[in-house]
Amino acid sequence: MAQESFNYRLWRYDGAPGELIPLLQSAQEHFGYIPRGAIRHISSVTGVPEAGIYGVITFYSQFRLQPMGRYVIRICDGTACHVSASRQLLDAIRDELSIEIGETDAESLFTLTTVACLGCCSLAPVMMINDETFGRLTPAAVRKILKDFRRRRDAEGDGSAATGCGVEK
Ligand code: FES
Repeated sequence: MAQESFNYRLWRYDGAPGELIPLLQSAQEHFGYIPRGAIRHISSVTGVPEAGIYGVITFYSQFRLQPMGRYVIRICDGTACHVSASRQLLDAIRDELSIEIGETDAESLFTLTTVACLGCCSLAPVMMINDETFGRLTPAAVRKILKDFRRRRDAEGDGSAATGCGVEK
């Protein structure tokens, strides 16, 4: 289990170079993000100053200091999507949710992230929300999808979204 992994990694930490990052990864796997208390605990066990741990966390985009929202948006910013104006999709999401990449909105509903490639390049520009993939997107389509997810939340949907590459109609 993730908790055992986190505790085990803490227990066996010996200060070897490169040990801190797997430890932080296991903490994030366990909590879903890296809470302040975990940083204090890691610092006390490892002897690495909290400021140093924060430095590592903020350097690597894989680490989060906030919990993830219910829906995690992954905008593809790989080459095929980038040349298909994925930045416009990002701008639409930023505008719609008032969040930047790596942030979660005020309702804890959406977290915005980017990825290098989602493997659906022929459908560029592409984004995923949790396990659901949307392709050939426009900013207007993205805004509609966000509204649909809000409605889904309001209706307390069953979360049984289809997976695989699809195209927003
Ligand atoms: S570059 Fe976006 S899906 Fe491959």
